[in-house]
Amino acid sequence: MSPLPLLTIKGLGVTYRGASGPALSDVSLTLEEKRRLAIIGESGSGKSTLARCIAGLLPAGARTTGELIWNDAKVRTKHESFPAPGRDIAYVFQDPGASLNPVLTIGEQVCEAAIRHLGLTRRQALNHARDLLAGVQLTHAEALLSTYPHQISGGQRQRVAIAAAISANPKILIADEATSALDTITQAAIASLLDRLVQTNGMTLIFITHDIALASNLADDITVFKSGHLVEAGKVYNVLPNPGSVYTRRLLSSHLDLTTPPLIGTAG
Ligand SMILES: Nc1ncnc2c1ncn2[C@@H]1O[C@H](COP(=O)(O)OP(=O)(O)OP(=O)(O)O)[C@@H](O)[C@H]1O
Ligand SMILES: [Mg+2]
Repeated sequence: MSPLPLLTIKGLGVTYRGASGPALSDVSLTLEEKRRLAIIGESGSGKSTLARCIAGLLPAGARTTGELIWNDAKVRTKHESFPAPGRDIAYVFQDPGASLNPVLTIGEQVCEAAIRHLGLTRRQALNHARDLLAGVQLTHAEALLSTYPHQISGGQRQRVAIAAAISANPKILIADEATSALDTITQAAIASLLDRLVQTNGMTLIFITHDIALASNLADDITVFKSGHLVEAGKVYNVLPNPGSVYTRRLLSSHLDLTTPPLIGTAG
């Protein structure tokens, strides 16, 4: 018998308040545990809307239809309810400036979820934060704890944002174009870091990207969106070499050079 999926999405629709039409329509999808799912599609196709809906981060007034069915047995640990943003599902944004607070130290921000959701004391959370910063390959983790976000580079900020996101050991990490504001070397390093987190922490990764080569290198599964509709979903090794829809083929031909070497592992 095949394992139960972590999340089953059935006929999901999302309409933002005041919008003339839905941002997402009739999306059905299953998310497997410990997999890496890439979401691709043109700008405005509904990728972030789907991710925010999964994470419970849609703005007030957004109307949803359809169902999100969580397999509680897989995701629930000692918690009372699931899912809770920041605890079970972490979200890393394109711009780490959007998720990091400029007036709080990095230590305070990386500690926050662990204090709130894991019940650690401040001292324990600071030790935890130091380990997390080292784990996302930031050097001088001790000194960083008392540093403010504007005092470090964009790539370092994105690593801090990832450390803060995974502080409460979430089951699912959503990276919404988390590498697109970075230079290619740093992009490769962050992609490699995300990959390692999935391997070592057993997280499920959902990542949204316009970079087909990144999707090809990092994902197990891929979904393709167009104008709020899911046009194709499947295993990366099936969909990319042999797309089933004209739209995916067009999207790939506008981006893809499958002869490029893998990004993963090219930089630390
Ligand atoms: N908060 C919001 N209020 C109203 N409409 C929104 C809101 N957020 C997104 N939309 C609309 O919903 C549609 C889907 O947007 P979404 O942000 O999900 O696209 P996307 O695929 O993530 O695009 P991009 O690649 O540019 O990030 C778009 O038409 C967008 O204008
Ligand atoms: Mg988006």
